[in-house]
Amino acid sequence: MAKIEINEKKILGHINPEIQGQFSEHLGRGIYEGIFVKEDSGIPNKNGMRKDVVEALRDIHVPLLRWPGGCFADEYHWMDGIGPRENRKKMINTHWGGVLEDNSFGTHEYFELCRQLGCKTYVNGNVGSGTVQEMSEWIEYMTFDGASPMTELRKRNGSEDPWELDYFGVGNENWGCGGNMTPEYYGNLYRRYQTYCRQYHPDHPFRKIACGPSDAGAFWTKGVLETCFAKPGGDQFHGFMDLLSVHYYVLPGGWEHKGSATEFDKAMWFQTMKKTLYTEDLLKLHGDILDTYDPKKQIGISFDEWGGWYDCEPGTNPGFLYQQNTMRDALIAGTTLNIFNRHCDRVRLACLAQMVNVIQSVLLTEGEKMIKTPTYHVFHMYQYHQDADLVAADLFENEEVGTEENPVPALNASVSVKNGIYTITAANMDPDHSYPLELRFTDFQPKHASGSVVTEEMHAKNTFEEPDCVTEKALENLTLTPHGVKTTIPACAVLMIRLS
Ligand code: AHR
Repeated sequence: MAKIEINEKKILGHINPEIQGQFSEHLGRGIYEGIFVKEDSGIPNKNGMRKDVVEALRDIHVPLLRWPGGCFADEYHWMDGIGPRENRKKMINTHWGGVLEDNSFGTHEYFELCRQLGCKTYVNGNVGSGTVQEMSEWIEYMTFDGASPMTELRKRNGSEDPWELDYFGVGNENWGCGGNMTPEYYGNLYRRYQTYCRQYHPDHPFRKIACGPSDAGAFWTKGVLETCFAKPGGDQFHGFMDLLSVHYYVLPGGWEHKGSATEFDKAMWFQTMKKTLYTEDLLKLHGDILDTYDPKKQIGISFDEWGGWYDCEPGTNPGFLYQQNTMRDALIAGTTLNIFNRHCDRVRLACLAQMVNVIQSVLLTEGEKMIKTPTYHVFHMYQYHQDADLVAADLFENEEVGTEENPVPALNASVSVKNGIYTITAANMDPDHSYPLELRFTDFQPKHASGSVVTEEMHAKNTFEEPDCVTEKALENLTLTPHGVKTTIPACAVLMIRLS
């Protein structure tokens, strides 16, 4: 019997809602078709945004949306995306399929989408091919309400009031698609660009995000911090950055041959699980470096690109990164979100890549049809962790499963509390065996227990023909004990229990 011992007297941190954020780039059918269909579409929409998609996203309480990229961000010139749509400059989206980008989804459309979702905003600026002035004027356009040229322009384009900008990214992956820079070069550019990202609202300042490493790129983390902090030790904290980004994708077969999204054997399954757990190693690696420079933890990690990335679906545009989503993705999501919760002292924001129709999505669309992926249902269960406090919890008698090359602990979990209600989420990476599970608190005596579970055979997925093969179901076998609850976690499952 696996056991989770919960010490409810030990609160370890606060889980920012933004940890469950989403990312949408101008990439394939992520925004166009997937979210934005324009006002005159036959697909039901409000101000151009698909009603079915917005409604589904509201049900998981998307806390934050990052836009416009990704690699696209460092090619994006925001002024091309404002004003009457018919006059907007067109461009070739060189990163993603070489298709024509008509800029019909721009700044105004983005803030309208966030308004409909009721989420926080995270705009990623262009360092790679943009100027300091361009970035500075974008901030002025979005946030200034005094008399100024950018305010006038925004008003002429139909938005009388400025918007609330919550986070601003100064470049994206500038070690690669964002300009192939060295960390020192980027660090210096960062210092300069962020200087002109003016805070026009002292009562609601946006937080600045510096481009951080990919994977285990410790040289980048050190180089940027060294350049922007001057000395390890934290005494010379300049307040240049509020967060540092980290990007990591689970690529089961590596970059060249990622592998099919739907056809995989057990060896590939466990390789995927092992690579998912590596997220925690990365947080320790970059967290330790951050601790050296910033022991007071003033800088957060913005894990603003994560997810399982496979070969795109056969017959689709390879530049569109469209892939199916199975129970394997549910396990990636459940496990990764548990890891983020447990590292909420540093991880203050994270974004799944990407929200609709691109890489590991919560929703897929085809014409007027929309389906919820297994990943969606995990986010739906995990939403109770948003804005909750992380509670100390240890797993015991956790079986080791997997292959010789890729052994993994069967279970992983996280526990939080909000308004006196405890939320426990757990994932079972074992595709073949269920496990009896006991949750035990130090003193707390729960009176009510409820929960739900997402579980199916490891290849199970939802399709446009069969949209409900994988859904969230009520967890039936919950038995209260004096200090907790007993249940069984099925094979290949992500579950959520609420206790009060
Ligand atoms: O999410 C797809 C791409 O992956 C993003 O554009 C880029 O930032 C990353 O390499």
